[in-house]
Amino acid sequence: MDIYEILHTDHVNALGLLAKLHASHPGAARKELLTSVIDQLTAHTLAEEEILYDRLLDRARELTLEAKEEHFLVTRLLEELATMRLEDERFTAKVKVLSDVLEHHVRVEEADLWAAAKASFDPIIAQNFAGEFIVLRDKLSKRPILMRLGETRLKKVVDAVGHVFQPAGDQR
Ligand SMILES: [Fe+2]
Ligand SMILES: [Fe+2]
Repeated sequence: MDIYEILHTDHVNALGLLAKLHASHPGAARKELLTSVIDQLTAHTLAEEEILYDRLLDRARELTLEAKEEHFLVTRLLEELATMRLEDERFTAKVKVLSDVLEHHVRVEEADLWAAAKASFDPIIAQNFAGEFIVLRDKLSKRPILMRLGETRLKKVVDAVGHVFQPAGDQR
């Protein structure tokens, strides 16, 4: 199994969960679905950035930067859903927007970003990435969800101020 098969399975699962969340009504089932969505998406995006995006940054910079921005947007929407009352009438609307953003993200990722990855890494390496991804994703799954949401924010800050604190000559 290679990294693309694993990521694709995650994508299908996440979009499926979001469809269920969108159809849900306020109550325990909605809460459980929301927790699963946040749990899966935060572990997936953090692991994906480390295993794939960071390695693609110098090979497909624009695409990778765009994908990272979309991850940040997804995480912001997850944070907002996490702090929203389950019976808030905007809940379903926000889930719909999250689904749309994620659908677009997955489409571009699986087409353009993976094309760049496949041109950069041979099939054996793509298999190794699969193993690394699973280990990291499952390790992240054990961390508290709030910590994972915070980690995405922290990465954003580090990206934003990195040029200020990086030693001269090491600027990206
Ligand atoms: Fe992904
Ligand atoms: Fe992604």
